[in-house]
Parts: sequence; C-alpha cells; structure tokens
Amino acid sequence: MTITNNVSLKSFNTFGIDAKAKSFCDITSVKTLRNVLREQYSNPLFILGGGSNMLLTKDIDALVLHINLKGIEVVDETESTVIVKAMAGENWHQFVLWSLEHNYGGIENLSLIPGNIGTAPIQNIGAYGVELKDIFLNCEAINVKDQSIRTFTKADCNFGYRESVFKQKLKGEYIITSVNLQLTKSNHKLHMDYGAIKNELIISKIDTPTIQDISKAVISIRQSKLPDPKEIGNSGSFFKNPIISADQFIQLQENFPDVPSYKVSEQEIKVPAGWLIEKAGFKGKRFKNYGVHNKQALVLVNYDDASGSAIFELAKLIQKTVKRLFNISIETEVNII
Ligand code: EPU
Repeated sequence: MTITNNVSLKSFNTFGIDAKAKSFCDITSVKTLRNVLREQYSNPLFILGGGSNMLLTKDIDALVLHINLKGIEVVDETESTVIVKAMAGENWHQFVLWSLEHNYGGIENLSLIPGNIGTAPIQNIGAYGVELKDIFLNCEAINVKDQSIRTFTKADCNFGYRESVFKQKLKGEYIITSVNLQLTKSNHKLHMDYGAIKNELIISKIDTPTIQDISKAVISIRQSKLPDPKEIGNSGSFFKNPIISADQFIQLQENFPDVPSYKVSEQEIKVPAGWLIEKAGFKGKRFKNYGVHNKQALVLVNYDDASGSAIFELAKLIQKTVKRLFNISIETEVNII
C-alpha cells in the first residue's frame, strides 16, 4: 500500500477541477482497503470512485482512497437470467459494453453514463426509463469504522429518484466494494417508451430492435446532448428535476403552456430543471472558462481550468433565478465538496 502526499485530483474528477488531496492511496484489493481502514479510520478519509458526480470547490484535507477494485464475473445463471458480480472500480459504461457483448440485457438504456460500478447504487443512476434498482440484486460493502463486510439487498438500499441509503442514513459509513446485477440472457425486456429512443430507431429504420440497437440509440442521443467529459469537464446533470405539487403545476402551466412534465403521482409532478434553466436564460451562457452547456441546460461545464468555487457560484445564481422566476427550488444532483 502506497500513500502519496499532495496529489492533484484533476484527472480523477470528470469536471477536471485541479484540487489537491492532502494524501492519496490507490486501492486495488479489498484486503488493502481493510488494512488502510483499520489503520486510518480515525483520520479524515475521502472515498473517491469515478469522480463523475462531484464538484470539488476546495482542496481535500484528508486521505483520499481511490477505489480501483477490478473484476467482472458471472456468479450464477439460469436458462434465462444471469447474475453478474462487478467490482466497484469497474467503469460503468465499459461494464455495459461487456454485458452487450455477452448479450446480457437490462442495462442497455444506461449506456454512456459516466462513473463506476461502485457509485452507481449510491445515487441509483437512471436514464431513459430505467434505473439501477430495476436490475440490482445486492451489493457488498465494508464498514469504515469496524471493517465488517455487509451485503445490502435492494430493500436495504432504500432506492429513490437519484437517492439511496448511502446518500442518506448511512452516508459515509460504508464503502461499496462490489455489486451483483441480475441481467437477462434471452427474452430481453426492452424499454423504448422514451420518445427520443423511438425517434432514433425510426431514423435508423430499425423496427425490431435488439439490446445492442437500443444501446446505440441511447449513445447517439447522449452524444448529441451531453458533452464528453474527456473534451469538456462536466458531471452530467448538475441539478435534480424538481417535484412540485399538482396545484403549483397548474399555475406554472397557465403562465407557460409549453412546460414539459412527468406525472409522479396524483398530487406530484416532476418538471425538467433543464427547461426551467433554459427559460431563465442560462442555456449556453459562458462566463470566462465555465458555463452552461449549449445543448442541455442541466449540465454545467468547465471549459478550461475553471475553479470549482466559480462553478458553484454559477449554480447558486441559477438556483436563485429559477426560484425568483418560477418559485421552484432546484437541488443539486452533484455532490458539492
Ligand atoms: N429541456 C429543455 N431545455 C434543456 C434541457 C431539457 O427544454 O436545456 C426539456 C426537454 O426538451 C425535455 C425535458 O426538458 O422536454 C427533459 O429533457 P431530457 O430528456 O434531456 O431529460 P432531463 O430530464 O433533462 C434526465 C436525467 C438524465 C437522463 C435523462 C434521460 C435527471 C436529473 N437527469 O434529464 O440523467 O440522461 O433524463 O432519461 O434526472 C444524469 O443524471 O447525469 C443524466 C444525464
């Protein structure tokens, strides 16, 4: 186990923010993780996965544990389903591609989501009508304080919209080391209700799509709207889509008849934050070396060496403006560090 001091985290966060870690340790085995925790649990620790859902607004005055556990294996299968265990440090999209190569279905709609396997359950990643919880079986995690290993079932995880027990009650208490997902080997259940997917398939003249076709469609949609973090620093959706009361929605619709919406329940309506931010005039706005993406207003971008705190100030300005114009509070989806 090697601990290095004063390490730049620029290449470890998809926003590309050049914050420094006081010290840094690359974790490549569960055994090493246990040993480090045993020695260091009483010191400040910072757990780093794919770095795709965080905005670093300052240096990290802690030991950063970079979870770099690798490995993918089939642990059980029936004629029609397979249980795949993937280690926390595997890149999510590479895992999706691996599944598609083996013709395992269930995660094709989650193609090209940035981040790692181990962080996928923390915020119950989701896109185009599918969420991680739909194929999640369980995950293994290590307790930071006493290093005991615990298996979390789907019920234990308490998944919600971009939410789980790991962001709420057990925040900071466990480190996920591996995830078991249940995928299909045949009779794949396709999720194509999303208008954009339907359109892509029509354009490609595909009427009986495979899981690989759906993945290609999703990749094409995401590439057309979302910036590639390798080219422009970003963390995907910066804000969550707010859920408002049906009464408030009726008022909003009176003033803005074109407002898109998704019904959550009889009393609750989800409104796309991207639409609100665009209406507030921020889409494509550039402030020196950072700004709001020009094709999807939900995404804040770092064009070139911007500071995390400048981007955070912009986020606060957006929140304030949306609140003033629509009386709607939008919460960040990205963790502000
Ligand atoms: N819209 C605008 N202007 C914008 C962006 C969106 O008017 O700048 C409108 C669109 O026209 C559409 C609606 O808002 O009517 C929804 O937009 P979109 O389909 O792009 O989805 P989203 O609600 O903005 C969510 C997820 C994405 C996920 C997509 C597709 C959240 C916070 N975001 O975005 O997730 O890929 O749906 O399912 O729920 C992520 O979490 O990083 C992420 C990219």
